Amino acid sequence: MKNTSITFKESKQRNEKITMLTAYDYSTAKVIDEAGINGILVGDSLGMVCLGYEDTLSVTMEDMIHHSRAVAKGTKNALVVTDMPFMSYQASVYDAVINAGRLIKEGRAQAVKLEGGKEVAESVRAIVNASIPVMGHIGLTPQSVNAFGGFKVQGKSEETAKKLLEDAKAVEEAGAFAVVLECVPAKLTKLISSQLSIPTIGIGAGVHCDGQILVYQDMLGLFSDFTPKFVKKYSNVGEVMKNAFKSYDQEVKDGVFPAEIHSFKIDEDVIEKLY
Ligand code: KIV
Repeated sequence: MKNTSITFKESKQRNEKITMLTAYDYSTAKVIDEAGINGILVGDSLGMVCLGYEDTLSVTMEDMIHHSRAVAKGTKNALVVTDMPFMSYQASVYDAVINAGRLIKEGRAQAVKLEGGKEVAESVRAIVNASIPVMGHIGLTPQSVNAFGGFKVQGKSEETAKKLLEDAKAVEEAGAFAVVLECVPAKLTKLISSQLSIPTIGIGAGVHCDGQILVYQDMLGLFSDFTPKFVKKYSNVGEVMKNAFKSYDQEVKDGVFPAEIHSFKIDEDVIEKLY
């Protein structure tokens, strides 16, 4: 069944958990889609896990469009949500609508995600008014890493917890169909999830969210720079790949690969005439 912003909202009403993973290319999107995951986020985490940047701030609209288009091509049933990169929506509501439109038209996303609470509510409303579904993102919003002074858990004090609750409600009231809660204490997530009618999608936000999302390289053990506390490694694909690369290296050097079955044939009389 095709997942949409509407089916996401219906899942919450039916008390059914939503699953999401990130993807940045055609082949990975296809595997994730075939596994039955409900949604794929073309995250701006692309900057860190694919392009090797130390944060997400340098990711451009062109990067997001390029990867979003590849993911959309590999996806049949999952809802494709694409991140609006840093400074594609912060300067004005006009920028926000134009750039959200580009991610839909050129990137073939079905929805966009942007970071922030009350301060982006007007932009969320304007994008939704342009018939583009919006996913919110509050808590640890990586595009604000410099303002936060690092990647830190958010909402631990009474004041910041109250702000997160207000931000979640502001994003919902502005028309978002779902909201990501990143690095938020589990008990606060429970409260926020119970007070919203739209689904909460957690990453480092405990079990009480209506859905979960992980960066696929993290859960597959493919990104070795650091592993956040909230990540569960479901496999060690990095090791599997390294072993395969080592075997290939050895076999080429030993003359074992390519074998006859990997080679193409030519008639003997043709080749003899060339000697
Ligand atoms: O960019 C990303 O991958 C994200 C997830 C961590 C939610 O925003």
